[in-house]
Amino acid sequence: MKIAVFVSGRGSNLQAILDSQKEYKTVEVKAVISDKISCPAFQIADKYSLPAFSLGDKEGCTGYNELPGLLSKLEIEFIVLAGFLKLIPNEVIKRYSKKIINIHPALLPSFGGKGMYGMNVHKAVFESSAKVSGVTIHFVDETYDTGKIIAQRCVDISDVKSAEEIAERVLKAEHELLPYVVNKFAEGNVKFVDNRVMVF
Ligand code: GAR
Repeated sequence: MKIAVFVSGRGSNLQAILDSQKEYKTVEVKAVISDKISCPAFQIADKYSLPAFSLGDKEGCTGYNELPGLLSKLEIEFIVLAGFLKLIPNEVIKRYSKKIINIHPALLPSFGGKGMYGMNVHKAVFESSAKVSGVTIHFVDETYDTGKIIAQRCVDISDVKSAEEIAERVLKAEHELLPYVVNKFAEGNVKFVDNRVMVF
């Protein structure tokens, strides 16, 4: 399955997908796409000689309206948002219906929505005094964090002393769950049953 991975930051989930392919060999990362001109994830793209693209209206960037054309040209079949903080244009969402997934560092539908990304999420979870957090992988629709949930993993945070500690525990779970789910899609083992998403 030919995929594009969208990133805004350090790219550790991109790295986890790439690492998993030593075992799975089901996915080809055809592009790393960011809303930033430069971000640490581009260094990973560089290391693996993966084409990298910046979105925006600055010089050298791909305009958001050029994104559908770029995805077609690269024959992208599936999109993974791995720490990508912008909304995906509606045209792309329609074209890739049920073929765009996002990873969120908490248990949706709690602690999601606009502005809830990265440490903002973990701080909100810490302040709530919740005893579990975790990772959610869901389909992407037109709004933040509202698409159907594909997979989740819980993390016990009953003894944590800081939001950073939550982030560390959740990230470990992210690096296991995201490659697992991407591989399940590549194998055709994610299906809708009675309007629920099942991973076989
Ligand atoms: C990850 O923790 C991911 O769950 C989160 O951004 C981080 C990116 O890390 N995504 C969101 O908060 C989306 N709402 P990475 O660049 O090291 O993969």
